[in-house]
Amino acid sequence: FEVNWDAEAAEKGGYEHFMIKEIYEQPKAVRETMSSRLAKDDSSVLLDELKWNKHDLKAFKKIFIVACGTAYHAGVVGKYYIEKLARIPVEVDIASEFRYRSPLLDENNLTIVISQSGETSDTLAALKEAKRLGSRTLAVTNVVGSSIAREADNVIYTWAGPEIAVASTKAYTTQLVTMFMLAVYMADLKATVSPERSKELIKALRNLPGQLHEILEDVEPIKTFAQRYGFNEDVFFIGRSLDYAVALEGSLKLKEISYIHAEAYAAGELKHGTLALIIEGVPVIALATQSDVYEKTLSNIKEVKARDAVVIGLALKGDKQIEKYVDHTIYIPDTDQLLAPILAVIPLQLLAYYAAVTRGCDVDKPRNLAKSVTVE
Ligand code: G6P
Repeated sequence: FEVNWDAEAAEKGGYEHFMIKEIYEQPKAVRETMSSRLAKDDSSVLLDELKWNKHDLKAFKKIFIVACGTAYHAGVVGKYYIEKLARIPVEVDIASEFRYRSPLLDENNLTIVISQSGETSDTLAALKEAKRLGSRTLAVTNVVGSSIAREADNVIYTWAGPEIAVASTKAYTTQLVTMFMLAVYMADLKATVSPERSKELIKALRNLPGQLHEILEDVEPIKTFAQRYGFNEDVFFIGRSLDYAVALEGSLKLKEISYIHAEAYAAGELKHGTLALIIEGVPVIALATQSDVYEKTLSNIKEVKARDAVVIGLALKGDKQIEKYVDHTIYIPDTDQLLAPILAVIPLQLLAYYAAVTRGCDVDKPRNLAKSVTVE
């Protein structure tokens, strides 16, 4: 009998992998991100690190969000938040593309770079290029004193705590919370949302940690799906608007750690080609958390069902209608539709995790990938 006091096992705190530990840390991580950044009476978001006023906001004619990988997917959600709430046009770019497309930037722009590590070479280079062109810059990062944090004019830290697993989980959800708070903060300064709406959004934000905990308390159904469909070679994720943004991240997670070929499609775009790939038995994860496009998403679900796909619907609790159209349903707690991505991604992270475990993959260190890519 040999006791192996492995330091790594101790760090995993009883979990089999860092990834699952980090998935379970999300209620706490998200709470940390918000901590001391919400007014006690829920009237406003306090981002003291920015010290912007309404004139600064007026100066931002357009915002660019630049990032890689999962952080890029947080940017896709961030664009939606800023445009919807603060009414400033936003472009989202993949950092390795941004630099080489002669971006039209000057002092009338704000460039936001998102990076968990703060060290990604492509993102750092994009930040430097934005500065060179005269843009104001803001970094959203998890690592204090990182290269990106030092280079940007302003920094908002996500306070997710160390993320070890290559596949990003708690960094993503805390990036979404940060982008949401930033959008509400900007909207307040620009007076593009009413004080009542702002309060409603902040209240909904405060409920997130408890709701994340609720999802994590019952993972058995997701584990069962992962075991049942984990050996399929193709999986599709479909959704509209913010659901599409989450679909991108869900599909990346599955690819990264389980090596299953996954594609995320804007549900309305399926008919322009991808529908040809939907054949009998192909799993389709259909996200339907956005009320303003709900009926449209249902029509897209019908399209894939008609081709005998196996559809797993992801919907808000209380939505009974969806059950008529899908084979299985995963419910997340009810929230404001803007915040649904922060809850909807959790079952997708779990699905990827349990699929990778089912297939015997090296979850924390997937082949060919690195936690932080510091080469171009
Ligand atoms: C690598 C990681 C991804 C991550 C991306 C961006 O590719 O494997 O998980 O999303 O880099 O990293 P960053 O530290 O800039 O967020």
